[in-house]
Amino acid sequence: MAAEMLGFLQALQGSGSGANQLLADIYTEFFADILQAVRENGCKPEDQEKTQGFHMLRSFDTESSNQLEPPAATDEDVWIFGYGSLVWKADFPYIDRRRGFVWGFKRRFYQHSIDHRGIPERPGRVVTLLPGDPNQDRVYGVAYRIAASQKGAVLDHLDYREKNGYERCSLEFHEYSNTSADGGGGDGEPIQVIMYVATQANDSYAGNVWQVPCIAKQIFSSAGPSGPNREYLFNLATAMDQLFPGAVDEHLEELVACVRRYIAEDEPELMRHALLQEIAGILKEEQLAEQAQRLEELLERCQQPGGREWLLHGALQPKNEA
Ligand code: BEZ
Repeated sequence: MAAEMLGFLQALQGSGSGANQLLADIYTEFFADILQAVRENGCKPEDQEKTQGFHMLRSFDTESSNQLEPPAATDEDVWIFGYGSLVWKADFPYIDRRRGFVWGFKRRFYQHSIDHRGIPERPGRVVTLLPGDPNQDRVYGVAYRIAASQKGAVLDHLDYREKNGYERCSLEFHEYSNTSADGGGGDGEPIQVIMYVATQANDSYAGNVWQVPCIAKQIFSSAGPSGPNREYLFNLATAMDQLFPGAVDEHLEELVACVRRYIAEDEPELMRHALLQEIAGILKEEQLAEQAQRLEELLERCQQPGGREWLLHGALQPKNEA
C-alpha cells in the first residue's frame, strides 16, 4: 500500500493541483472508505450479542452457574454484587446468580478508567456508586455466588482488575421480583454481598465534572484495552433493559441518548476533519517517500482498535489560537 500511496503522490505532484485539491484527492482515494468501516467498528447491537454473551442474560433464570461441574454450595461461600460490566460479563467462576438491587446508592459514571475503557492520556468513564437516600435510591445489578474453594482466587482476580481506585465493602442485596414494575421492595431475606466502590477520595474520581454532555463526550471519544467506552455504556443499558424491564435509571438513559446523538450527528464530520488535519500535517514533509510512509501509518492507526476514538479525541481538543 505504501508503494501505491507513493505512486499516487508522484502522479498528483505532476498534475499541478493546489494544496487543497491534493488533500481532498488523498482523502477520497485512501481514507474515505475506511472511515465508514472504522466508524461502524463493532458497536452494532448484533455484534454486541456475539461478543458480549447477551444470550446468557436472556437465559438468566435457566443457567445459574457458568461451570460444567460447579462445586456444591456451602455456608462459607461469598456473594459478589456487580452493577457495571459484571452485570453482562462475569469473568470468574460462580455457582449461582441472582438479579436484584441494593438500597441507598446511585450509580454514576463518575470514575475515570485508565486501564479498561480508556488509557492514562485519554481516560474513559466507568461507574461507581454514590451514597443516596436509603429508602428511595436503589441500584440494580447481579449477585454471583462464589464457592468457598474458589473465593480466594476470584477475589484476588477482582482486586487486581479493580485496582484503579475501587475498594471492597459489604452490604445487603435484595432479589428482584418479576411481578412488580420496579422489581418489588425486596421483602424477602436479604443476601450479604461484597461490592466494589470507588471512594470520592481516589485519584481517578471524576465526579467534579458531572454534566451529562461532558461525560458523554468523554465516553464517545475514549477506548482502552477492554474496548470502546461506548460499548461499555451500551452493554450496561442493554443488560439493564433485559434484566430489569421497567426499572428506571435516568443517568444511564440520558448518557445513552447523548452518546447516540453525538455518534449520529457529530461523528462523521469530526472524523473527517481530524483526518484532513492529520493528512495536511503529513504533506508538510519534504520527501514524497516520507509522506507515503506516514500516510500509510495513519491509515493503520485509524484501523487499529481505538483508532476511531483517537481521531475523535483529537478533533474535540480546543485548538490553540496563534
Ligand atoms: C461491576 O459491577 O462490574 C463493578 C463495578 C465497579 C467495580 C467493580 C466491578
